[in-house]
Amino acid sequence: MSPHRADDAARNPLRHRLDQRLPRVAGPCGMVLFGVTGDLSRKKVMPAIYDLANRGLLPPGFGLVGFARRDWADQDFAQIVHDSVREHARTPFREETWKQLAEGIRFVAGDLGDPEAYQTLKGVVQELDENRGTGGNHAFYLSIPPGLFPVVLEHLRTSGLAEDRPEAWRRVVIEKPFGHDLASAQELNRIVGEVFSSGSVFRIDHYLGKETVQNLLALRFANTMFEALWNSHFVDNVQITMAEDIGIGGRAGYYDGIGAARDVIQNHLLQLLALTAMEEPLSFAPDDVRAEKEKVLRAVHLPRELGKHSSRGQYATGWQGGIPVKGYLEEEGISPDSNTETYAALRVDVDNRRWAGVPFYLRTGKRLGRRVTEVAVVFKRAPHLPFEKTAVQELSNNAFVFRIQPDEGITVRFGSKVPNTSSVQVRDVTMDFQYGESFVDSSPEAYERLILDVLLGDPPLFPRHEEVELGWEILDPVLDFWASHGKPDQYVSGGWGPHSSYDMIARDGRTWRRP
Ligand code: BG6
Repeated sequence: MSPHRADDAARNPLRHRLDQRLPRVAGPCGMVLFGVTGDLSRKKVMPAIYDLANRGLLPPGFGLVGFARRDWADQDFAQIVHDSVREHARTPFREETWKQLAEGIRFVAGDLGDPEAYQTLKGVVQELDENRGTGGNHAFYLSIPPGLFPVVLEHLRTSGLAEDRPEAWRRVVIEKPFGHDLASAQELNRIVGEVFSSGSVFRIDHYLGKETVQNLLALRFANTMFEALWNSHFVDNVQITMAEDIGIGGRAGYYDGIGAARDVIQNHLLQLLALTAMEEPLSFAPDDVRAEKEKVLRAVHLPRELGKHSSRGQYATGWQGGIPVKGYLEEEGISPDSNTETYAALRVDVDNRRWAGVPFYLRTGKRLGRRVTEVAVVFKRAPHLPFEKTAVQELSNNAFVFRIQPDEGITVRFGSKVPNTSSVQVRDVTMDFQYGESFVDSSPEAYERLILDVLLGDPPLFPRHEEVELGWEILDPVLDFWASHGKPDQYVSGGWGPHSSYDMIARDGRTWRRP
């Protein structure tokens, strides 16, 4: 919360509560984007900036500075932004929004390691301060390979660009992966901490920007009927799935050597686990929520026999949407003997009173049957079923499913009598909540929410370095185990993962949900 809003809240709590429902508009500021040629910048960051401008949430004088080793003038970069907006923005293209945004677009051509380029950048942001009223408030968005973070941070420091001033803020936005293991994450956090104060560091886990993910906490803690069941007395297991139907596309350079566990489990899936399993926070103040998330992540333990409780795979050739697709090892830029996994599944246990004995299964993969992310809380069977065996043979466990995407909503699965049968027959039915039916407005993209929060200086949706390090503490032993135990299994593109993933859950007497 900005000091201004905090004062306001103290003076008039009721007005503050009402203000929360009004759109929050960023004050005078600008953003410097490093890595303008990358996929993420073009598909997510630039369109989100336009969408915010289109919704009237950016200051009219907003400045956007691209920085790259390209021989471009301001207009060339503006054209890149324009094309990306045209192709990927969520909201309609409006000439007047674009014109206003384009007036604040600048480009600095330079090498990330060249001190002179940062002097040029300094001149450009000063010019924006003078001509567009950006007020010295600048966010530096590092959408670059993590190996380049240190050099950019160092130059931001020595050039004075990162220097906080009493009347203006400087913030840094870091895209994952935050390191590739615990030691490198700690080192990265140390380097960032030397340049920016902890309140000025915004680590993006875009899953936290999704409305459906934020709803996990609202649903758990704003209602009475779920929380009573949310524990080991009633829950049999929890399955957290992030499945994608796409392959690695043009991202070989990023993905190979990283793999599914580092790319998705370390961040998105552990965040979903934390939100599903954490205790009620004292309040929704950022530190209270993060403290509970950290507490539950500290309670996460791996099973002793990792070979039996984890699985990894690589997609082989197959079919996707009726089209034949290449296997991972045939993708452009991938070495034919790469060991990088494109599918990863893992059982973890949460060793606290609430969850003792309830396995949490995490899985993610590319080129699976369809794109779906969900958190399924699977309940125990009723202790006694007073029916004929044949009456309940089609009944499975009750389940509560948060459908994170793409079909956003919630499903409750339970048994119901089949009508019109002479003997009792019980079968699974579902009750569905769909966002689209209850709420008229379409949800903003995660990046819109997160970029706006950076510009407002609102930290709750950004993981602290402790959470990032806890994620690596959990994952490192699995990665080490895999590194010393052969190669990933192959799985058919368009299917649901390697055999070993079915075996690992079958060993516990359970099956994966078919989303
Ligand atoms: C990113 C991963 O964090 O999330 C990508 O690096 C993945 O590999 C992407 O494709 C998926 O995001 P979403 O929002 O489409 O589920």
